[in-house]
Amino acid sequence: MLEKAEHLKQKINNFQAANKDELERYRVNFISRKSQIADLFSQLKEVPADQKKLAGKALNDLKNLAQERFQYLIEQLDEETQTHEGDHADLTLPPVPDKIGTAHPLTIIRRRIIQIFERIGFNVSEGPEIVDDWHNFTALNFPENHPAREMQDTFFIEKDPDIALRTHTSSVQIQVMENQQPPIRTLSPGRVYRNEAISARAHCIFHQVEGLYVDENVSFVDLKQTLFHFAREMFGKDIKIRFRPSYFPFTEPSAEIDISCLICHGKGCNICKYTGWVEIAGSGMVDPSVLDNCNIDSVKYTGFAFGMGIERVAMLKYQIKDLRLFTENDVRFLRQFNF
Ligand code: DAH
Repeated sequence: MLEKAEHLKQKINNFQAANKDELERYRVNFISRKSQIADLFSQLKEVPADQKKLAGKALNDLKNLAQERFQYLIEQLDEETQTHEGDHADLTLPPVPDKIGTAHPLTIIRRRIIQIFERIGFNVSEGPEIVDDWHNFTALNFPENHPAREMQDTFFIEKDPDIALRTHTSSVQIQVMENQQPPIRTLSPGRVYRNEAISARAHCIFHQVEGLYVDENVSFVDLKQTLFHFAREMFGKDIKIRFRPSYFPFTEPSAEIDISCLICHGKGCNICKYTGWVEIAGSGMVDPSVLDNCNIDSVKYTGFAFGMGIERVAMLKYQIKDLRLFTENDVRFLRQFNF
């Protein structure tokens, strides 16, 4: 027993730990409950009574030594890793440049849309995301209990009076017209919310940009030419655009705007629902009663408006097949848009 203890003592004193693995090996061998020292303690009961005292003391000393050495080895290893790191730092090297992030594709597209319209005289206006019933529905000619309100599944925050997350940026039209007389030429980008199931084509949070032009003698021709100009600037001069008759409570006549699918080029894909056309906006001539609601003289003035989906434009521009990618924050996806 004493011999064995002496042997272990030497081993402990000579032990060096150059890394964490070796330190762990030391711990298992000399400190843990299954260590060689613990083994010796368990043999203590077989030692003849007259030698027990001596053997017990030797084992206790050995145990203390093992602990002290363990502490020492930990400190040594700590010091060593610190000085090594210090050794490797070459202060004459130029600093590693920070990786510069990239703008989100929706930000890039939003800025481009704004640029295109700013060049033809539109300014930018913004409104709140939490709106009352008047701005989101009533002033836009959605009568109470009218089924058109169900076209947009609304997230309500409060009932009676109704306060909701805006379902479209058309609410900003009202905000602008209440505060300004024509001529108005404004673009309102922003986030909108609808209670919809998330899929490759739909999300409950998305982005729109609203356009509004009110002045004397504004006609449907102005609407068509303005959006045709936009499509060519954004997608190139070969883009095809079509106006499809539609219905919105706040415009008359109304049209949905489709552009030729740039993902499948007419072959058919899930984004264009195999039609070769993708809807990018709703539009129309501002209904005179909307102008009246905002105290704008609907005899003197006419206007057009449109509401465009920023995600839709980005998907076509960058050939993105799944809307969900915009919100997943996968840097491998996001890094591609550094232009
Ligand atoms: N607000 C409509 C929507 O979100 C889109 C829209 C249609 C906006 C026609 C307009 C418009 O300004 O004139 O579905």
